[in-house]
Amino acid sequence: GTIPVITIDGPTASGKGTVAQRVASALGWTVLDSGALYRLTALAVLQQGIDPADEAAVADIATRLDVQFRPGEVWLSGESVAEVIRQEHVGNLASRLAPNPKLRAALLGRQRAFRQAPGLVADGRDMGTIVFPDAELKIFLIADVRARAERRAKQLIEKGISANLEDLLADMRARDARDTERSVAPLVAAKDAHVVDSSTLTIDQTVQSILDLWSRFL
Ligand code: C5P
Repeated sequence: GTIPVITIDGPTASGKGTVAQRVASALGWTVLDSGALYRLTALAVLQQGIDPADEAAVADIATRLDVQFRPGEVWLSGESVAEVIRQEHVGNLASRLAPNPKLRAALLGRQRAFRQAPGLVADGRDMGTIVFPDAELKIFLIADVRARAERRAKQLIEKGISANLEDLLADMRARDARDTERSVAPLVAAKDAHVVDSSTLTIDQTVQSILDLWSRFL
């Protein structure tokens, strides 16, 4: 049979990344952080001084990305970049590059190659709609923007980075608007997605609710 996929799509800072990793490790499956591929492209664009508006050049960079994922680590051309790709300016550029259809096409095969036995948990914006439309279980993970901004502020402060809640809120609203309103692969729940609102749930509760949904398939 086909290799099962659980997709987790949702807005920035909805907790998708952590939740996807925890669901994957509970099941013993592979995880795909598709946002990291957009962030890695953004980092390579910055490092190589490419014009972000040059769609073909950006797509070409994405095709040639030399990336290695290991648990908790990401390497780009032999350089450890897990920290730097989480920075706000890299995330913002990723979200400005993301509407480029040539870039999205360039990353499609790379994302689908993560579908390996015994299963894959894929997180992003278009996992359930475009990359894995045949996924067995699709989750649309939401949380209100203030809850997400507060979580992001807490993460930054824990890392010793200063954070301003109002700035983060404004950034997050702008990124939500860009991700939702773009015409190419917009952030939208797949018709067959289960909406999970994590605003008032802990990570454990969110993970458990997804595992409960998955166990109904077995
Ligand atoms: O999820 P994360 O914040 O790491 O993603 C960074 C940016 O990459 C998002 O704002 C979004 O614009 C883009 N992205 C995307 N499609 C995905 C994953 C991320 O367009 N599947």
